[in-house]
Amino acid sequence: MTASATPTDAAQPTEIDNASVRDASAITLRNLHKRFSGDAIALDGVDLEIRAGEFFTLLGPSGCGKTTLLRLLAGLEAPNEGSLTIGGKDVTETPPHLRSVNTVFQSYALFPHLSVHDNIAFGLRMKGIPAAERERRVQEIADFIKLGSLLERRVNQLSGGQRQRIALARALVCEPDVLLLDEPLSALDAGLRTQLQVELQRTQKRLGMTFVFVTHDQDEAMVMSDRIAVLDSGIIQQVGPPHEVYERPINAFVARFMGHVNLFDIQGIHDVTVTTALGELAMEAPLQPGKHGGVMLIRQEVIELGPTVSEGYNGLDGVVKERHYRGSRIEYRLEVNGQPLMATASNLGQRLYAVGDRIKVSIHPEDVVRIEA
Ligand SMILES: Nc1ncnc2c1ncn2[C@@H]1O[C@H](COP(=O)(O)OP(=O)(O)OP(=O)(O)O)[C@@H](O)[C@H]1O
Ligand SMILES: [Mg+2]
Repeated sequence: MTASATPTDAAQPTEIDNASVRDASAITLRNLHKRFSGDAIALDGVDLEIRAGEFFTLLGPSGCGKTTLLRLLAGLEAPNEGSLTIGGKDVTETPPHLRSVNTVFQSYALFPHLSVHDNIAFGLRMKGIPAAERERRVQEIADFIKLGSLLERRVNQLSGGQRQRIALARALVCEPDVLLLDEPLSALDAGLRTQLQVELQRTQKRLGMTFVFVTHDQDEAMVMSDRIAVLDSGIIQQVGPPHEVYERPINAFVARFMGHVNLFDIQGIHDVTVTTALGELAMEAPLQPGKHGGVMLIRQEVIELGPTVSEGYNGLDGVVKERHYRGSRIEYRLEVNGQPLMATASNLGQRLYAVGDRIKVSIHPEDVVRIEA
């Protein structure tokens, strides 16, 4: 078993319901190491299986090695150690132009003096696609990225967000087996970004391509991906479908990166009772033997607030310290036993609490989760 194939990874095959999935696009990475001159270790023994037709996302903070991993897949960097196969073929030594892979780079890498149209058509021209077919595909993809009206503009007369969309179009239009995307939506405003997230995912499924998508935005990763790999300092921490990485992070790094803030050092565990600075809480099941210490995670949205403790729940006394209005939901910063505890309530038929209110905090034993520190 590889380091990346965590127990959570093995459990759930991704559902890919597309008959046109291209078998040539499965990717295997084995023990990949990449060091740069100096001491920089960009990748430190990466093992990964990316399935054909999968929307696979590399998620991690700045400098964790995401771009380096994409560049290795594209053949723009060679690993110091390890191997990679695409479609079952070892391509570790294969030059970039002989890999059935296209890349949308973090820097757009467009031809500034060419028009939008010619930038998008470039790859099709190289592949010798006949003019009529080429025009049809350019038009189709330009509509997709909502830049149909700008086809004759030169790229150096466009905004950053518009350039980013052209870089995306230029790669998509060639319909490669594997598309590598390095933060392709980062320069877009929230509305367009949300729209393209959905459409990009739809296109990927329709064409049956394999996408390896890079982002440092966990919401974007969760909304788009079949599976996510969370990277830290060149090491894969966890691989799994979004709900699993979010609800069952394997360690505190992944939990924090997925946006969880209620983490407490475990002071002791006896049977199903876990002690932290919050107090004693019941868990659902006793720990597996050999698991001691670690960190307790309570997700914000599982915490119930009210005048009484819910039946069968852990009950704690809390005081509202801050209230943040977020439209569809309300976030509360509570104080429980002198500790800060964040809780999110839906803004629908819920009582609104005010700063200073004393309330009962209910947490179901199933939602008291122990993870590695
Ligand atoms: N050509 C290079 N020479 C030396 N070090 C490099 C080179 N390219 C990347 N690195 C280093 O390797 C590490 C990983 O860089 P990489 O670009 O893969 O990060 P990233 O996850 O894509 O970050 P970001 O989210 O900021 O784009 C960093 O510490 C970086 O400084
Ligand atoms: Mg990068």
